[in-house]
Amino acid sequence: MPDTIFTPWKLGRVELANRVVMAPMTRNRADVAGVLPDSAIDYYRQRAGAGLIVSEATQPSAAGQGYPGTPGIHTDEQQAQWARIADAVHEAGGRLFVQLMHTGRIGHPSLLPEGCEVLAPSAVRADLEVTTADGETVPCPEPRAMTTDEITTIVHDYASAAARAVAAGADGIEIHAANGYLPHQFLSPGTNERTDEYGGSPAGRARFLVEVARACADAIGADRVGIRISPGGQFNDMRDRDNEDTYLTLVDELAGDGFAYLHTLRGRTSTLHEELRRRWPTTYVVNTGYMGSSELDEVTPIVEDGVADLVSVGRLFISNPDLVERWRLGLERSTWDEDTFYTGGDTGYTDYPSATSR
Ligand SMILES: Cc1cc2nc3c(=O)[nH]c(=O)nc-3n(C[C@H](O)[C@H](O)[C@H](O)COP(=O)(O)O)c2cc1C
Repeated sequence: MPDTIFTPWKLGRVELANRVVMAPMTRNRADVAGVLPDSAIDYYRQRAGAGLIVSEATQPSAAGQGYPGTPGIHTDEQQAQWARIADAVHEAGGRLFVQLMHTGRIGHPSLLPEGCEVLAPSAVRADLEVTTADGETVPCPEPRAMTTDEITTIVHDYASAAARAVAAGADGIEIHAANGYLPHQFLSPGTNERTDEYGGSPAGRARFLVEVARACADAIGADRVGIRISPGGQFNDMRDRDNEDTYLTLVDELAGDGFAYLHTLRGRTSTLHEELRRRWPTTYVVNTGYMGSSELDEVTPIVEDGVADLVSVGRLFISNPDLVERWRLGLERSTWDEDTFYTGGDTGYTDYPSATSR
């Protein structure tokens, strides 16, 4: 098997030991203050054999939380715990980007500070169920369309969260603009019915994400900012079909700014991905995103053929903390237990054994 995947890669200002990225994965283990438990330090340390870890989705503000148990990075206490995680990952030879997620219309007022509403680009309800702060399952509420002042506040929130992440010792941040959360809701005509400068055209729909990305770049340097997108993705009741122009406009707009990377979930429309890859000048990361397996035989040709510089892998990292070593040594991989993805506690979190001595 060719071994480019095990070779180092320069990402912005850091060197990665290999081309394998641990994909961002929400694990819902944070407390009500959005602080991760100490077991999260072990969880990430165990997985530091990935060239890069992208953390679980993390709210940049209390108003951006859409699920119980997701961590934040907008208070000192949250930041202090991220600092312990970043230290542990670095000590084990890894690199860490914190993924920033504002959930927009996916959420519930019970998860938000008193008086906060669920906000989105437009008042378009997601036809799905969400979990309240008490753990009840209820229909997703109809969001209120944001004012432009509210948009400006949120852009600032991302930038201050990015500054906190780097102050905590993280190597950078990833803006979660995939899978139907706030930036994706702006990108997609199905959820963005705005007629102001934040909608109405590919450039209008891309504007929010461009502003967020540039604000984060101003705060920490563009080479510490990655962006994750899922063109055409349907997750979270998105209707993002026939929206190629928006993604091409987005990439053309951002291409000259020296961002760390573009991270795409590869859908069925591979021609768009080829074009995005062609137009994106820095590191390109691909996640096969439920479309196939993320096993070695699937991801090796992606890097070998130059489809992407790095590949991100999700669930295999949950059940194989030392995945890259297992791949390198040809050791067996364990399967994951979906029942413990989001349940809290150490079971299915820090108790998957390493097959190697890492
Ligand atoms: C438990 C779980 C949590 C996830 N949470 C996130 C998340 O917080 N942010 C994100 O961008 N993607 C999230 N994803 C998607 C993964 O990053 C990845 O795209 C997906 O698992 C497909 O890759 P895989 O086939 O290698 O697992 C999550 C996936 C799983 C299984």
